[in-house]
Amino acid sequence: MNTPSPNQNASSSGGPIGIVAALHEEINELLTLLSGARAVHIGSRDFWTGELDGQAVVVVLSRVGKVAAASTATLLVAQFGVRAVVFAGVAGALAPGVAVGDVVVSSELLQHDVDASPLFPRWEIPLTGVARFQADAALAQGLLESARAVLADPLGLLGQPVMEAFGIAAPQAHAGLIISGDRFVSTSAESATLRAALPDALAVEMEGAAVAQICHEWGVPFAAIRTISDRADDAASVDFAQFIAEVDSRYSVAILRQWLSGAAQAA
Ligand code: ADE
Repeated sequence: MNTPSPNQNASSSGGPIGIVAALHEEINELLTLLSGARAVHIGSRDFWTGELDGQAVVVVLSRVGKVAAASTATLLVAQFGVRAVVFAGVAGALAPGVAVGDVVVSSELLQHDVDASPLFPRWEIPLTGVARFQADAALAQGLLESARAVLADPLGLLGQPVMEAFGIAAPQAHAGLIISGDRFVSTSAESATLRAALPDALAVEMEGAAVAQICHEWGVPFAAIRTISDRADDAASVDFAQFIAEVDSRYSVAILRQWLSGAAQAA
């Protein structure tokens, strides 16, 4: 349980890959698959170092929300020298063509609850000049291809009863804008407001754009991969826990393993 030496010169090559999720169920299975697992306890978090599918990784539970995610990401970069960060979890759908059981990979990320106007343009993070943080293109492409490969056989992954329970038929993988804020969006009125303000947003969640900001500041490649658990409407919280256990955790593990054993080699 020692704290490794601080990495003052974060670089995007050579270090392990950071894998972050907000909920226990989303990393539990990954942790059982880690070889040479060792926990490093820093700042109320356990960072699990080890090897997964031939890659050195650090797996960590951020917990929920932008502050939790940003502080976790900072530690991943500064203490572990990660060469890339991937956030895996769930999101609510905003765009009409995005359905429960689909996967969205970030091409860019924005914090929808930041508004320092009129001092700065709406959504811009003050003094950074950035509202939309770009995901690393190669990383996002690798995750998108891995998601498409995994989603090609939903029956094998989920089984018929789970697919029927959540109305999942032919799940798709999308790439586009993911927006983040410190609110679980659970009314049709709020999702309509977000859709009107940011019509190109595919999905909403509570951490990704905060991690994107940290990775931007440190120059570390980042992308988020999100399974759509709900439509960010009045029914958003129904079956949420069951979805995490029966769909999201299976998707996350399968997609990350597919990516780690292939495209991650080049990341
Ligand atoms: N994560 C999953 N669904 C969400 C929603 N509706 N709002 C915010 N974060 C979410």
